[in-house]
Amino acid sequence: MAFTHEQFRLDGKVAVVTGAGGRGNSIGRAYALGLAAAGASVVVADINADGAAAVADEINGGGWRAIGVRVDIADPVSVREMATAALAAYGGVDILVNNAGLMAELKSERAVDIALDDWNRVMTVNVTGALNCAQAIVPLMRVRGGGKIVNQVSGGAFPAISVYGISKLALVGLTTTLARQLGRENINVNAIAPGNTTSDAGRQLTPDDSPFIKFLEASVAMRVRGAPEELVGALLLLCSDAGAWITGQVIHVDGGWVLRP
Ligand SMILES: NC(=O)c1ccc[n+]([C@@H]2O[C@H](COP(=O)([O-])OP(=O)(O)OC[C@H]3O[C@@H](n4cnc5c(N)ncnc54)[C@H](O)[C@@H]3O)[C@@H](O)[C@H]2O)c1
Repeated sequence: MAFTHEQFRLDGKVAVVTGAGGRGNSIGRAYALGLAAAGASVVVADINADGAAAVADEINGGGWRAIGVRVDIADPVSVREMATAALAAYGGVDILVNNAGLMAELKSERAVDIALDDWNRVMTVNVTGALNCAQAIVPLMRVRGGGKIVNQVSGGAFPAISVYGISKLALVGLTTTLARQLGRENINVNAIAPGNTTSDAGRQLTPDDSPFIKFLEASVAMRVRGAPEELVGALLLLCSDAGAWITGQVIHVDGGWVLRP
């Protein structure tokens, strides 16, 4: 079969993007807009209901299709309601992007000192949240004969330099396990590991003069920071027929921060 650019199109597909209703410039918003522009109907899901509605309005205003849904990915009941809303609006789900996560709001506690409640909160949202979404959405993918799951991890997991990094490394583990267990059902499961990205949250966490940016400047091959939109190409590859034979992988989109040994 010859390759055509049409293989990147998502016409007729339904995509759920969690964490897509952040205020201002967020990676989830860029993902939702990118998937919609490629032809997908998008469920913009976020714990911030107003933000989800605003991004859905933006997509519909561009002539594409979206609904906004409030979800708390840490709560399996709320996640099942999100799946039901997707089913009611668009009749099924083909693509799940587990982008929601705690990052900028986390205290930078050392693992040896962190309060157990804080540890559990990070793991419950960043790891169990993605599992909850997969458990609710995979049955809908099976009905459609397959699907795509993309988990949002981080360069900060290679190696894990914080409790946040540990949670993202656990999400890599969920990615490879799901990839092995769901591959024969035609469900691809991959991860994107962004570098330092200029979402509002990313800028808040690491201002230009922060030590972490100085650290990156000493080691990253290209630009230290990328825009949310620069992650969308990798997402479309992983969510479309163009990436049909890719599963269990982590795609680093980071200007050459995390390099293979
Ligand atoms: N910005 C960066 O530099 C960077 C780098 C690597 C990875 N990431 C990851 O990319 C993703 C998006 O980051 P961002 O920079 O756009 O930050 P962001 O804070 O704007 O996005 C996170 C979103 O998740 C939502 N959310 C939080 N808890 C939730 C819950 N329980 N249920 C549903 N939604 C919830 C928030 O409301 C927010 O909209 C995160 O997973 C983050 O860890 C970001």
